[in-house]
Amino acid sequence: MSALTASQWIRRLGGRLLGGLGQILGRPPAPCHGLVLPTATYAPWNHDPEFLDIYRVARENTLVDELRCFELWQLLAQTAHLEGAIVEVGVWRGGTGAILARRAASLPGSPTVYLCDTFRGVVKATREDASYRGGEHSDTSLGHVTDLLHRRLGLGTVRLLEGIFPDQTAGQVTEPKVRFCHIDVDVYQSAADILAWVWPRMPVGGLVVYDDYGFPRCDGITRHVDEQRVLPDRVVIHNLNGHAVVVKTAG
Ligand SMILES: C[S@@+](CC[C@H](N)C(=O)[O-])C[C@H]1O[C@@H](n2cnc3c(N)ncnc32)[C@H](O)[C@@H]1O
Repeated sequence: MSALTASQWIRRLGGRLLGGLGQILGRPPAPCHGLVLPTATYAPWNHDPEFLDIYRVARENTLVDELRCFELWQLLAQTAHLEGAIVEVGVWRGGTGAILARRAASLPGSPTVYLCDTFRGVVKATREDASYRGGEHSDTSLGHVTDLLHRRLGLGTVRLLEGIFPDQTAGQVTEPKVRFCHIDVDVYQSAADILAWVWPRMPVGGLVVYDDYGFPRCDGITRHVDEQRVLPDRVVIHNLNGHAVVVKTAG
């Protein structure tokens, strides 16, 4: 894998800076927010050929940047010793789902990956979510994701569940345990309902990864994650890339 050229590096840094500024500018100042620019330079996502191979396809179908995509890729591999399925709620056009599904296919026993979405946009927006009304991200379809995962990528261990999770589709998850759950649903109540379903099914060592932690538009997700910090059966990690990672430490 060749190293990034200086101009590629500067372009990417510029893109992230603009992205971060775009999150902040034009919004009322939120307490506790500021531009976060870590200065560490370790960037393994640029040097993992298998990740880069799937990311080339995923990037056209995701709202999630490569740092967070790589973290999903890396963390899922660390659940290889656990039992249970993998669940993603919040699929949109299938980008992060493709990354999880490709990684899962390389794990012992090729665990099933459930990709769950209404395919009609965000649901359960409440007063906890200042920027959401419901229906956002409806510009996708079950057909689009089926085509990406099954036809283009040939990922057979994926099951697509259409409808509100857990209310309408959780009954279709046949495994008693869930080792890994990616929650990318943008709003408080959706995330809380998904966690309430998944947590009792998760073995010790299982992981819940939240997208949008710390994004000013997704204040409901930040609140929902922070509420878990006092609970004794988990460790909550604030990753500066916009993920929160919750590790189950006791049954
Ligand atoms: C930001 S998008 C997901 C982005 C995606 N992970 C990617 O790779 O870009 C949020 C998605 O969550 C879905 N969603 C929100 N709440 C849901 C729920 N309770 N059940 C199913 N889908 C939900 C919406 O339909 C929307 O497609």
